[in-house]
Amino acid sequence: MYPIDLAGKRAIVFGVANQRSIAWSIASVLHQAGATIAVAYQNERVRSGIERLVAPWEDDAPLIECDVSDDANVEAAFGQAGDALGGLDVIVHSIAFANREDLGGRFIDTGREGFRIALDISAYSLVSIARYGTPLMTGGGSIVTLTFQAAERAFPGYNVMGTAKAALENEVRLLAADLGADNIRVNAISAGPLDTLSSRVIRHYRDMKRIHAERSPMRRNITVDEVAKTALYLCSDLSSGVTGEVVHVDTGYNVMGI
Ligand SMILES: NC(=O)c1ccc[n+]([C@@H]2O[C@H](COP(=O)([O-])OP(=O)(O)OC[C@H]3O[C@@H](n4cnc5c(N)ncnc54)[C@H](O)[C@@H]3O)[C@@H](O)[C@H]2O)c1
Repeated sequence: MYPIDLAGKRAIVFGVANQRSIAWSIASVLHQAGATIAVAYQNERVRSGIERLVAPWEDDAPLIECDVSDDANVEAAFGQAGDALGGLDVIVHSIAFANREDLGGRFIDTGREGFRIALDISAYSLVSIARYGTPLMTGGGSIVTLTFQAAERAFPGYNVMGTAKAALENEVRLLAADLGADNIRVNAISAGPLDTLSSRVIRHYRDMKRIHAERSPMRRNITVDEVAKTALYLCSDLSSGVTGEVVHVDTGYNVMGI
């Protein structure tokens, strides 16, 4: 339990697939802080697992199916969130997808369709979520997304997902500019490597994780709790003057030149 009170705040968290999902750690920490949480999940396959995760919570968490590849699904999901929660203060976007064959080999071989899918699901979805979600944020709010340092540097293997993350980080700045006057803040967390369903499919992920630990100033990898704590800060009043930022939670790896 951290000394931040989110009682009365309403959040929707996109991107919980299982207990290892970064989105699940963020949902748990926001819930511990007193927020009411709706969990948006991709499809029926993951629903029963999420039901088990939220079962210990004393309040009922609305579970909302939403495949973000279609705007109609996003609009419908926020319709359900509005009905269930009466409004929103926090949106967490923790979603990414690229075809497995585009997460290895040479970037130059990325096909047009694979490029489109990666950018659509991993980057455009934030625009769609912000467009349909922010009308529920009538009292202001905070939107947080998840990115990776491959947006800023070449990470062979990460390939088109790096391109998608670069687009996502640019969206964070543009959405912050659009929404700031409504007191809605938009920020990204650039997390170091964490063992999840998504990272498992990245070729050379194990090497990347080992090198992060060896070469980062703090000489270790991050924990998912450290990402969740930063999300809690970005979703709370403690960060009331912070928007359009990319906050690195990577034990400092990104500051190293050698
Ligand atoms: N794991 C890492 O090392 C790491 C590091 C930095 C950033 N991130 C980012 O964190 C975010 C969460 O990833 P994770 O590592 O927790 O893995 P994860 O696999 O648990 O989460 C990815 C989520 O994206 C969802 N998703 C994919 N396609 C979707 C669609 N069409 N509609 C709706 N949802 C869809 C999946 O259902 C899943 O819940 C991603 O944006 C990822 O790029 C991960």
